[in-house]
Amino acid sequence: MSDVLKIGVLASGRGSNFQSIIDNIESGHIKALISVLVTDNPGAYVLERCRKHTIESLIMKPADYPDRNSYYAAIADELMKREVGLVVLAGFMRVVGKALIDTFPNKIMNIHPALLPSFPGLHGQKQAVDYGVKLAGCTVHFVDEGVDTGPIIIQAAVPAYHDDTEDSLSDRVLRKEHLIFPYAIRLFSENNIKVEGRKVIINSKREDQSLINPPGTDNQSL
Ligand code: GRF
Repeated sequence: MSDVLKIGVLASGRGSNFQSIIDNIESGHIKALISVLVTDNPGAYVLERCRKHTIESLIMKPADYPDRNSYYAAIADELMKREVGLVVLAGFMRVVGKALIDTFPNKIMNIHPALLPSFPGLHGQKQAVDYGVKLAGCTVHFVDEGVDTGPIIIQAAVPAYHDDTEDSLSDRVLRKEHLIFPYAIRLFSENNIKVEGRKVIINSKREDQSLINPPGTDNQSL
């Protein structure tokens, strides 16, 4: 068990992506374990998910630290203590600080509900609806100091319709999020992801020409 990838998750809300990761670990699709969940929100439903699946959780609020840097240094400390090898931002509603990024270079993944570099920041789905795009989607990327600017690992596209609302598009995108985020984690856990500058090189089969790139995520099973 000692070389199994240990994952630390940061989340602020309902945690449906967190749940999809838990499910894929419990079913054996991802060989990893979630060592700890850190939340900045004491009322977050992710805490309930931790209780149900006996995952350790920590509530860490920025207001309890003198400044932003010490907040992220404290989170980095907790993750290091647990020998975390991958940090996953699953709906963590803050821009992560340098202290954490420097501790885990190219080892922090985020899921964003838009096809980056379009529509970074908050409400990616609403931005897509308002803009009137015909293809929307989601992106898993490594985290750097910018807002949703790090190297892209996987994207999945969905159609966007003229009568979509933020909610209807969000639902369609979320179903893809629940496929590509666990898939990216699985590739990482199998050492099949390499980063060269802005480019992320994925070691996976290419024959499936779906709207998910890299392919391999169309089936419910990974
Ligand atoms: C998702 O749409 C994700 O893309 C964004 O925040 C939302 C989190 O949803 N970063 P959930 O908490 O995983 O259900």
